[in-house]
Amino acid sequence: QIKACLFDLDGVLVDTAKYHYIAWKELAESLGFLFTEQDNERLKGVSRVASLNILLEIGGLTLDEEEKAQLAERKNNRYIEYIAKMDSSEILPGALKFLEECRDQGIKVALGSASKNAMTILNNTGLTPYFDAIIDGTHTSAAKPDPEVFLLGATAVNIHPEHCVVFEDAEAGIIAATRAGMISVGIGSPQTLRAANMVVPSLAHISVAVLRESFAVV
Ligand code: G6P
Ligand code: MG
Repeated sequence: QIKACLFDLDGVLVDTAKYHYIAWKELAESLGFLFTEQDNERLKGVSRVASLNILLEIGGLTLDEEEKAQLAERKNNRYIEYIAKMDSSEILPGALKFLEECRDQGIKVALGSASKNAMTILNNTGLTPYFDAIIDGTHTSAAKPDPEVFLLGATAVNIHPEHCVVFEDAEAGIIAATRAGMISVGIGSPQTLRAANMVVPSLAHISVAVLRESFAVV
């Protein structure tokens, strides 16, 4: 039986993946190299510091910790400018309806995001009241694919991992869900989310009935 749904934020509930991409791309270009959408797949779900390390590896640059801290801050300041203007129009298709369905059916709802900006985004889009628990980058010590963020979410809503379903657009997040012992639903393309138990283009394709049909165990 499904007792909790755990949601990644960026690229699952809200359309912020594009802002992360633009901000990283601008940083790469200011450092003198190109950063493609394919490169960006490697950054999805990954923490800010780890993302910067991947980006510098792509550009073939080696920098010291202080320089890296400055670049991470520069990227984040740009990102913050984008999310400051967000409103409910940037909630992704089907997200609100499914969150409401979970609430109506007594299914617990938790956030499991690597972002330290999650609260700003949830508040600006009006999503905060839908959550029974919010676990974000300010609560975790290990980044996805480590299962920590989802295990903390399950504990916060007091539900055993086997009754939890995770919704993720990042490969690292799908691996984290699997390691947590949870069912994973990939949001995006089956090519990039091979390890997911099921992949759909958006939450508009998901309902509690669809989950029950798809996963006999739940
Ligand atoms: C999410 C996004 C990543 C981002 C990470 C940290 O997982 O998918 O692209 O790097 O959060 O976000 P932050 O807002 O803390 O820089
Ligand atoms: Mg994501």
